[in-house]
Amino acid sequence: MIYALISDIHANLPALEAVLADIARRPNVGATYHLGDLVGYAPWPDETVALLERAGIPGVAGNYDSTVATDYKHCGCKYEDPVQEQLSHLSYDWTRTHVSPATRRALAALPFRIDLLPNGGHQAGPRVVLVHGTPTLNTLYWTEDRSDDFCLKMAGHAGAKPGDVIAFGHTHKPWHREVGGIHFVNTGSVGRPKDGDWRAGWVLLEVGAHPPRAEFLRVGYDLERAARGIEESGLPDALADYLRTGGGPTSA
Ligand SMILES: [Fe+2]
Repeated sequence: MIYALISDIHANLPALEAVLADIARRPNVGATYHLGDLVGYAPWPDETVALLERAGIPGVAGNYDSTVATDYKHCGCKYEDPVQEQLSHLSYDWTRTHVSPATRRALAALPFRIDLLPNGGHQAGPRVVLVHGTPTLNTLYWTEDRSDDFCLKMAGHAGAKPGDVIAFGHTHKPWHREVGGIHFVNTGSVGRPKDGDWRAGWVLLEVGAHPPRAEFLRVGYDLERAARGIEESGLPDALADYLRTGGGPTSA
């Protein structure tokens, strides 16, 4: 079974359109799921949610989705850099005041976690657990330098066993590790990468007879359309520059 996993779209409609077109060109993709953070930082939250609904793509709630849905006091995003922290608050306030009631309801309806059984639920086999941040909280950052112990603790929370996959996003930096036979796949970000590569990122995850395999893909999109959209929306212009540099080489 081959899954397309897309995460952290963050209201970047041009990036989402490019990724969906890339997925559509691959007939071997059996199903597509999103891993949350549909909104925030760019000016198309309603259009992003509507496009995913039209395309029939289910997924889980990111911290941005659940905080907007519950009108929480902030987005649950953390930054080492106070400037980025301030920008994230401005973006959150913009998003909270601009999403439609229908979008808010759609965000509120997203589940925290989705379990996939590629061989079917009627027989034993690998399990793929989809969450946004970790199996405990969608605000916790699961970076590549987390210890083996941390990974196994999270696997324990998820009930994962060797051969299973836990896939998540939230850090906007893609990576894949295997610890104790369990595969941990961070799917990166469609609409706001932070690894210095501005292109939209997504993952082809193959799960079946062999050990799970994750292929990290990048696709160019109309970056200037996204940047212009931000600059014309009332969102801080700095968010456009952030997209142009892929978060910059040194950003956290
Ligand atoms: Fe995110």
